[in-house]
Amino acid sequence: MANVVVVGAQWGDEGKGKIVDWLSERADVIARFQGGHNAGHTLVIDGKVYKLSLLPSGIVRGGKLSVIGNGVVLDPWHLITEIEKLRGQGVDITPENLMIAENASLILPVHGELDRAREGQTGVAKIGTTGRGIGPAYEDKVGRRAIRVADLADAATLETRVDRLMGHHDALRRGLGIEPIDRAALLEALAAIAPQVLPYAKPVWKVLTEARKAGKRILFEGAQGALLDVDFGTYPYVTSSNVIAGQAATGTGLGPTAIDFVLGIVKAYTTRVGEGPFPAELFDADGDRLGERGHEFGTVTGRKRRCGWFDAVLVRQTCATSGVSGIALTKLDVLDGFPVLKICVGYDLDGVRLDYLPTAADQQARCTPIYEEMEGWSENTAGARSWADLPGAAIKYVRRIEELIQCPVAMLSTSPERDDTILVTDPFAD
Ligand code: IMP
Repeated sequence: MANVVVVGAQWGDEGKGKIVDWLSERADVIARFQGGHNAGHTLVIDGKVYKLSLLPSGIVRGGKLSVIGNGVVLDPWHLITEIEKLRGQGVDITPENLMIAENASLILPVHGELDRAREGQTGVAKIGTTGRGIGPAYEDKVGRRAIRVADLADAATLETRVDRLMGHHDALRRGLGIEPIDRAALLEALAAIAPQVLPYAKPVWKVLTEARKAGKRILFEGAQGALLDVDFGTYPYVTSSNVIAGQAATGTGLGPTAIDFVLGIVKAYTTRVGEGPFPAELFDADGDRLGERGHEFGTVTGRKRRCGWFDAVLVRQTCATSGVSGIALTKLDVLDGFPVLKICVGYDLDGVRLDYLPTAADQQARCTPIYEEMEGWSENTAGARSWADLPGAAIKYVRRIEELIQCPVAMLSTSPERDDTILVTDPFAD
């Protein structure tokens, strides 16, 4: 059976939620492998809107196993709130259909406090984080002082872990003018949340290995986008995890041979939330129009997204670093009515043409986009369900994108409704 990884191939917000939902109907297991509740996935099923941040999208469908892998940083209080909210919408969530890796690291209130304090520091360039404590939680994970899900089961272990954590954090907090950690209150809060989280804790690597042996189809659900990857993104304006497809293996405990198809989700134009380089960004009426037509406001923070033309250079790059087998192109209909469309096909760096985004920050800042113009279309493409429903100019635009990014379109999504999808290649096909 084929297993599929879905990753965002831009800066996140590519419309992964709908595609993952579309695929999760056909999968047996849906696994998150990185990030945390900084993600925002909106699913529209039979007109009902579900907003997920931490839980895998498969949770809203009956008969599926949803898994939160070790690569995720987990805020246990947020987890329980999100579970309760979905239950309120009639979604059934039990330890039978939700499993959390015992070795996943926790996000604690101290992480959010540190994240927000750093972002608020004067004289230091902001990253524009979601303020959810993601970065500090990953720092503690690699710094070997994180509290992990399994630690919640033993009071003595928790005390040792909290002491180690305090040794590091209190020094930082002093420097930032934040009160020291209240040890007793933190231990009490952890003891109170532990019985609500522990029923879901499992050796996920083992569960997934057995599922794989039993021929189950696994869908690995990425969050954020490859340009926010801590290694291959626009560092330091990135998130603190590896977002690219290889992380699906390390973030769940299955080897890379478990991955058969990588689906990159690509929006027909470009958006970004937060700070950082964005060569094809628009500051004019075209940019405003993309934002309005595309409803480009963050699901998690409500922030207005920055908008720009499609950047083929960046997507070619992310298709390479994630080994994308095919892309799902979303939100083509947002481009309806533009008389002329531009695609970024290269960068000019001090008079030299580049076909990739350089790594050095000063060079990134000096890169100016080289555009190719294409004829737009006036017809409405929203809701198209076959190529025949699309105007010729829209088909040409899609074909040109395929050529430029050197990767085929596997799916085309033409509205938030799950059935408004044109399938070219089935990622789950053996
Ligand atoms: P953090 O993940 O909260 O540390 O934020 C780091 C950067 O990643 C910021 O620019 C955020 O706006 C961005 N980011 C984090 N999660 C998402 C997401 O789900 N979609 C889009 N951008 C995100």
